[in-house]
Amino acid sequence: VIPQLLSKVAAMLIKKPESIRPSEITTPEMYYGRRRFMRDASGAMIVATVSGLAWHSPVNGATTLNFTKNSKYTVDADPTDRKYVTGYNNFYEFGTRKSDPAENSGAFRPRPWKVEIGGLVNKPGEYELDDLLSGITMEDRVYRLRCVEAWSMVIPWYGFPLSALIEKVEPQPGAKYIEMKTIVRPEEMTHQRFPILDWPYIEGLRMDEAMHPLTILATGVYGANLPNQNGAPLRLVVPWKYGFKGVKSIQSIRFVEEMPINTWQVQNSHEYGFFANVNPSVTHPRWSQARETRLPGFRKDFDTMMFNGYTDQVQHLYAGMDLERWK
Ligand code: MTE
Repeated sequence: VIPQLLSKVAAMLIKKPESIRPSEITTPEMYYGRRRFMRDASGAMIVATVSGLAWHSPVNGATTLNFTKNSKYTVDADPTDRKYVTGYNNFYEFGTRKSDPAENSGAFRPRPWKVEIGGLVNKPGEYELDDLLSGITMEDRVYRLRCVEAWSMVIPWYGFPLSALIEKVEPQPGAKYIEMKTIVRPEEMTHQRFPILDWPYIEGLRMDEAMHPLTILATGVYGANLPNQNGAPLRLVVPWKYGFKGVKSIQSIRFVEEMPINTWQVQNSHEYGFFANVNPSVTHPRWSQARETRLPGFRKDFDTMMFNGYTDQVQHLYAGMDLERWK
């Protein structure tokens, strides 16, 4: 009787994947074994202090860069606890589980770093990152990040407007889009050895989106240089778009005439489009985009905002466009 009973109990406990309901999947909160993030004034103080120190710290071990707090770009919410920002990531070059990028990216060397600028531009070339950034003002900005998988965070980035870099390299009038690619280094990026995606990871923006003052290239987060898992040494952040637009560890920037085909379109054009504007009324084929889980909160505890809350600043970019079609 006892073995029978045990196997019955085991059958109850061990579920087949298809019998697991979405509501039973471990929440990020349980995953980290941590209680809900409390509103905490001392947390805000720590951010301010670390940012202050960062003002003096060199980026990529070479030039000393100045960071100014840009209070025009902030969010009326506490930043998400740093451990989620740097521990719950998507970076398929290091694996597909949220914990993989932090666990597997230790061998990645983000410096020295060169960025290749090409295409329809007057000043093409292979630039040392610090040369490319010299003379550009670095800023602290707090942005919401909304991922297509329906979780979100509030992140204190530091970086600079992409427009500053674009102006520096002088695109030609024929340049209508900008295409950015992640570096390919399978010897350091553990999962580039497998055909998980069509490497390199590619993203793009229309030129007016790229020039928009909200669009930044980040070199740091939470007052320190970007950890590898967040896309060191340089990654894109476009706060009104789904997080997958934020291409990491950028090695190549090209100015092109045609709309680039981005990685997720190659992967599944039925589910992902080029624009990827946060839009609560356009449902992803496999799930609703109407609500979101602000990590480490409860399931879908926030209404998702059109353009992730940046409507006033960006809706003019899409005037007259059918946003159901142009996902
Ligand atoms: N960039 C590269 N190269 N590879 C990736 O897998 N994932 C994207 C984006 N940039 C990804 C990438 C996705 S799906 C998201 S949501 C964001 O990075 C996550 O950024 P974060 O981990 O810093 O929060």
